Amino acid sequence: MIWLVGNKGMLGTELALLFEIQGLPHVGSDRDVDILDPKALADFASGKGITWIVNCAAYTAVDKAEDELDLARSLNATGPENLGRLATSIGARIIHISTDYVFDGSGLRPYLESDPVAPLGAYGFTKAEGEARLVAVCPAAVIVRTAWLYGEHGPNFVYSMLRLMGQKEELGVVADQWGSPTWTADLTRALLAIMQAASLPSVLTSGIYHFTNAGATTWHEFAAEIEMLGREFGVLDKPCHVKAIATADYPTKTRRPAYSVLSKEKIEKTFGIKPPGWKESLRAFAETGFGPQVKK
Ligand SMILES: NC(=O)c1ccc[n+]([C@@H]2O[C@H](COP(=O)([O-])OP(=O)(O)OC[C@H]3O[C@@H](n4cnc5c(N)ncnc54)[C@H](OP(=O)(O)O)[C@@H]3O)[C@@H](O)[C@H]2O)c1
Repeated sequence: MIWLVGNKGMLGTELALLFEIQGLPHVGSDRDVDILDPKALADFASGKGITWIVNCAAYTAVDKAEDELDLARSLNATGPENLGRLATSIGARIIHISTDYVFDGSGLRPYLESDPVAPLGAYGFTKAEGEARLVAVCPAAVIVRTAWLYGEHGPNFVYSMLRLMGQKEELGVVADQWGSPTWTADLTRALLAIMQAASLPSVLTSGIYHFTNAGATTWHEFAAEIEMLGREFGVLDKPCHVKAIATADYPTKTRRPAYSVLSKEKIEKTFGIKPPGWKESLRAFAETGFGPQVKK
């Protein structure tokens, strides 16, 4: 039995649907079973024969985390530790989701799983701490770092851009931060492939893996692609000029890595998972009508 923790979030909702489609036995929880309450977690797991815990619950408000460090730290560090301790005690395996923001972005090549973490802000700091605290109590844990997530089940950059582009004739978007947009539908398929492979006793699968869509781009180019697809698929009825701006021209509460491209070599070698290119996946998302949140 799979236990999907955080099943009402953007990634969790998508993963629950995939388990449903695949006919995989699963149970889900979100705020109703607080990851900060070890007794509530143990009570929920009791008698269900849990073999996998997939943790999609987190504190994900990157800028707000600077003002709510204690809360972010509880959810992103204590939460995974509680789940890891429970997984160890009931003999279940756990997959936990982490982020490219554990890196400072000063790298010149895609980040490897073995590169040292050096988060720039509170969110990245708490996620990095969560990784370490999880592994300390559950060495068999699998941690999947991802980045720039979008999908139909939660607020994200694609929806923000389409909304703003519908209202404005010009939009400034930062062109000096590099990363890899990632469709939740691709990430959920990768998570499932890991769980299926990791069930084979011969495969040593614990540790950290990177998964994003393939290729690297900037927020500016990502936005320009969204604008083009928005017009092509009838979500935008007029063009919006996407202007390249510098990070310095768009101040945010937290500093973000300038380059947070993640190497996918390890996940490909270990599990044979080959992520689709980011443009290909963005187009596939557009072909679904960008999900139900978008009004045509
Ligand atoms: N979104 C991205 O761009 C991105 C990029 C890289 C990595 N990630 C990682 O990917 C994972 C999934 O992200 P996401 O965007 O799907 O997150 P999300 O939409 O914010 O979902 C997180 C879920 O956890 C729930 N939650 C909050 N506090 C909880 C608690 N105490 N107990 C149980 N559940 C609780 C949230 O409920 P409420 O909504 O009521 O708070 C929400 O349903 C996270 O680990 C995140 O760090 C995300």
